[in-house]
Amino acid sequence: MSKYTQSEAVTVSQIVQAKAAGKKISSITCYDAAFARLIEQTGVDLVLVGDSLGNVMLGYDNTLPVTMDDMVHHTAAVTRILRRPFVCADMPFLSYNVSVEQALTNAGRLVQEAGAQAVKVEGGASVAPQVKALVQAGIPVMGHLGLTPQSVHAMGGYRVQGRGADAAKRMMDDALTLQEAGIFSLVLEMVPAELAGRITEALKIPTIGIGAGPKCDGQIIVLHDILGFDEEFNPKFLKKYANLGKVVRDAVSTYDQEVKAGSFPSAEHSFKD
Ligand code: KIV
Repeated sequence: MSKYTQSEAVTVSQIVQAKAAGKKISSITCYDAAFARLIEQTGVDLVLVGDSLGNVMLGYDNTLPVTMDDMVHHTAAVTRILRRPFVCADMPFLSYNVSVEQALTNAGRLVQEAGAQAVKVEGGASVAPQVKALVQAGIPVMGHLGLTPQSVHAMGGYRVQGRGADAAKRMMDDALTLQEAGIFSLVLEMVPAELAGRITEALKIPTIGIGAGPKCDGQIIVLHDILGFDEEFNPKFLKKYANLGKVVRDAVSTYDQEVKAGSFPSAEHSFKD
């Protein structure tokens, strides 16, 4: 049972207004009920059920194989638990790019079947018609520029985006176009801090950075990355707040050794007649 009442739930207008009020927005990814229960007890404003679940939860090399059914399944697990944070779900690769109708149908599933309060789409001017149609249908939309992992092959890898005057201008133009189309916030991923600062100043809606420096209006990060599940994954922008990889490995190894030594279960963990 949540300790928060419905009236304390974060709304889309509170997220938009946080910018004008100078309040930083904290957001994090989540893909399941176990972690949602813990996040519910923190002050995090916005939870993204990211298609990063492809890498984090499903064992894929990238986000491209993630399907609508995967997103609906994981988003529903998260929204069954969360009451206070605002929940946004990623629209996976090619679930919105084909047509406005396709975007409406699939975003509708994330809201209707999975309980998301908003959806996120990657890309600039090319997805503006979809953004407009979703907003008109009453679905808040988050934009995503910079490194957009669904375009990993076109980008030639996971690289900083927006370096150089032309690329920076294209990103600024895309940000303004998406704002005009109606997004309520914009993720900037792996963007030079100075460019992210200029985009943040130019927009009325909040920017949410990941590897985009301190001037963004908020930050987002992949939950399992800050918890240190993967000791090999250490990009420059990542700060690890825990080392759960070691904690989990040590706990499972100790369990394994105690079972094999016959010391677990002891009398303490056994039932009497
Ligand atoms: O899928 C995801 O987790 C994301 C965030 C990193 C912004 O898109």
